[in-house]
Amino acid sequence: MKKATMILDKDYQIGRIDKRIYGSFIEHLGRAVYGGIYEPGHPTADALGFRQDVLEKVREIGVPVVRYPGGNFVSGFNWEDSVGPRDQRPHRLDLAWFTTETNAVGLHEFCEWAKKADTDVMYAINLGTRGPENARDIVEYANHPGGTRLSDLRVKNGAKDPLGIKLWCLGNEMDGPWQMGSKTAFEYGHIANESAKMMKWVDPSIELVACGSSGSGMPTFGDWELTMLNECYDNIDYVSLHRYYGNPTNDTPGFLARTMDLDDFIHTVVAICDAVKGKKHSKKVVNLSFDEWNVWYHSNEQDKEVWKRGKWGCGLPLLEDVYNFEDALLAGSMLITFLRNADRVKVACLAQLVNVIAPIMTRNGGGCWAQTIFYPYMHASRYGRGTALKALVDTPVYDCKDYEGVPLIDATATMDDEGGVTVFCVNRDMKNDFQLSIDLRSFGKLALKEHILLHHDDVKAVNTEENPMNVAPGAGPGGRISGGRATIRVPRLSWNVIRFAPVEN
Ligand code: AHR
Repeated sequence: MKKATMILDKDYQIGRIDKRIYGSFIEHLGRAVYGGIYEPGHPTADALGFRQDVLEKVREIGVPVVRYPGGNFVSGFNWEDSVGPRDQRPHRLDLAWFTTETNAVGLHEFCEWAKKADTDVMYAINLGTRGPENARDIVEYANHPGGTRLSDLRVKNGAKDPLGIKLWCLGNEMDGPWQMGSKTAFEYGHIANESAKMMKWVDPSIELVACGSSGSGMPTFGDWELTMLNECYDNIDYVSLHRYYGNPTNDTPGFLARTMDLDDFIHTVVAICDAVKGKKHSKKVVNLSFDEWNVWYHSNEQDKEVWKRGKWGCGLPLLEDVYNFEDALLAGSMLITFLRNADRVKVACLAQLVNVIAPIMTRNGGGCWAQTIFYPYMHASRYGRGTALKALVDTPVYDCKDYEGVPLIDATATMDDEGGVTVFCVNRDMKNDFQLSIDLRSFGKLALKEHILLHHDDVKAVNTEENPMNVAPGAGPGGRISGGRATIRVPRLSWNVIRFAPVEN
């Protein structure tokens, strides 16, 4: 068995974990809303048409915030279409996904769903085809108590109390040529700044996310952040990052190493934010909102077929990636990377939540099941709360096509407010189990409470409606702890959650 060591100290901290790093995303896309969270007529649907089986799965994860309503969709969306009597809401072409938006689910319905899901709404405004006036209006409609045309309209539409939306995205991926109303960095920075000012004048308690690059592979990456932040730094709170990975060449070691890129991406954007801070002689720190992350490539060919069969449907089966076991390992490593950067990554959204590149799948009229990536996401959200610890990990490394020195053991740790310690660990080794020695001496007496393991002998194994527990967590081999030192066996290719609880004297 190979060996790795981890040293933890209760005083060696990265910072408090913002629970919003376990956020997710629901876009008006494919079957995320229509056939996902909302399916009137489904045996589990409530009076509003929301599927209870889906809500249960969302609550099982514990999702603190959900970004809505897009995504690319939002850049052509008129929020006014989505409020008021349903039978008067317009049906419109959505040019982002070549579908028809019926507006059957709109702002009020989504806020109702969010309450049932125990989550907060992170609302994206349209800065593609629209601008600051519309941005101001939606904040007034949603958050102003009353006595104005827009806030009174909200009351008339059924919400006496303000919707209380605290976190807002200033558009989506505005650097991308695929985006309706895409912009240059200067154009976007200017419009984002003007919108931000007006939105905060309406409600100073809100926080705003400005669009960073749609990915670090964009030719304008870096320059985009510098230029747009130069325009809007003083009035925004976070910069967005988006990143999706794939394994089209079937290179598992290379695929599992992708978090090296993720870490670089985060550090580069932090450096740019701080450079603009310095240049502006500002005291304010702009943090990161990693509001789209996941694996996305399995469904690419299927999507072409769906559109070939006909555009402009509603609830088309788009972006329905079926996730395998290696995807769950990468998702686990991505969560570990966010925890390691918890001092600057304050929001992160697994894109998306239901049916569309999602941990939760449904069949129209049928069942609801957890995909492989559901598990690391749920474990991190449930157990990765409190303080992120600086873990010193000594592990053998490997080289692959794009990276050198990739740690075979990718691990980090958190300390909860009751003094419990949780270690999250991915073993990237294709062949070997590891003996992981963890130095926990500074925490006082701890007991090994639980070792949760996700492993499958086949990296391509998936969950389906018929076989929903094919890739599911179970008890790991565990180990022992004595004198503040734990020794845990970490099986080859696995996701591990190792929980230690304080022992009362
Ligand atoms: O999450 C799917 C899409 O990916 C989003 O609509 C867009 O923002 C990104 O390109």
